[in-house]
Amino acid sequence: MRINDNALIARLKELGVELRPGVSLAAKTSLGIGGTTDQLLLRRYESIPEVMRLLADNQTPHRFLGGGTNVLIDDGELAWVVLHLPPAHPGVRLEGNFAFVDASADLGGTVTFCAKHDLGGMEGLIGVPGSVGGALRMNAGAYGMQIGSFVREIELYRAAKGDLETMRGDQIRFDYRHTSFAPDDVMLRVKLELPSKPYKEILAGIRICNEKRRSSQPLNQKSAGCIFKNPPGGSAGRMIDTLGLKGHRVGDAMVSDRHANFFINAANSSCADMLKLIDYVRDRVRASYAVELENEVIVWRN
Ligand code: EPU
Repeated sequence: MRINDNALIARLKELGVELRPGVSLAAKTSLGIGGTTDQLLLRRYESIPEVMRLLADNQTPHRFLGGGTNVLIDDGELAWVVLHLPPAHPGVRLEGNFAFVDASADLGGTVTFCAKHDLGGMEGLIGVPGSVGGALRMNAGAYGMQIGSFVREIELYRAAKGDLETMRGDQIRFDYRHTSFAPDDVMLRVKLELPSKPYKEILAGIRICNEKRRSSQPLNQKSAGCIFKNPPGGSAGRMIDTLGLKGHRVGDAMVSDRHANFFINAANSSCADMLKLIDYVRDRVRASYAVELENEVIVWRN
């Protein structure tokens, strides 16, 4: 979708929004899949409610893109613009055991920054790609920990109210790869409380997690991490593997031959082919195990 109305463009500029026309979202996602649309960088958090009202008044549908590491985006010209918070480096400020982190900060970078200041607890998250905002939204976790446990406060844009709001951590439900945020809430900043730990100890934990991840996951290929959530008490990866589906392809969309719950864009996969592969694998698992696998990856259709 293209924003062509000059009055709208001028007003967005006044609100601190940078408009980047005709951006390929394939280049903005870890899967390397996605069509083209206008990108709006929201440089001023305070103006977000006004920007949202403006887009609604101008019948301009939008979606909010974080780190792009857990999303599968449709092909071709997209029917909505994409909103984005500019990246923050490092985007972290420390005060005792509290870390105040911008949602656009890189998750791995945040774990490392805190570690260097002797704040630990998040070692398991070190290899999880993406932004802190994305990790909060889906309660990212690995190796026995999840980000939700550390959240004390979140500042967000609440679409239902059309305004910014600060919520306490205990007002939010953090479940396995799921939270009580509304789908159109936008994470802006978070206050984490982290346990004190010597850097050396944290580093040892980080090394162990990195090693485990390297030995079981296809880290150098284009993927969105695990495609499906694990069913209660089970492992999607093990089930898909047992069905002999590693390496199974639809065009350039392929089940990883390293970890069967990672689906790879082997070259130039379309979204359509990746969706066909997801459906095929889900059908096979249902037929053999009577289990309905739920997507972990977020799918944005046109
Ligand atoms: N397994 C196989 N074949 C495979 C993959 C896994 O037999 O192709 C077996 C493993 O041998 C193991 C079991 O399945 O016995 C579980 O595998 P793994 O330890 O790799 O964990 P997982 O349940 O597949 C989860 C998360 C990962 C996270 C790891 C480590 C989900 C959907 N996945 O994977 O998170 O990194 O544990 O904690 O919860 C993600 O969410 O995107 C993700 C990568």
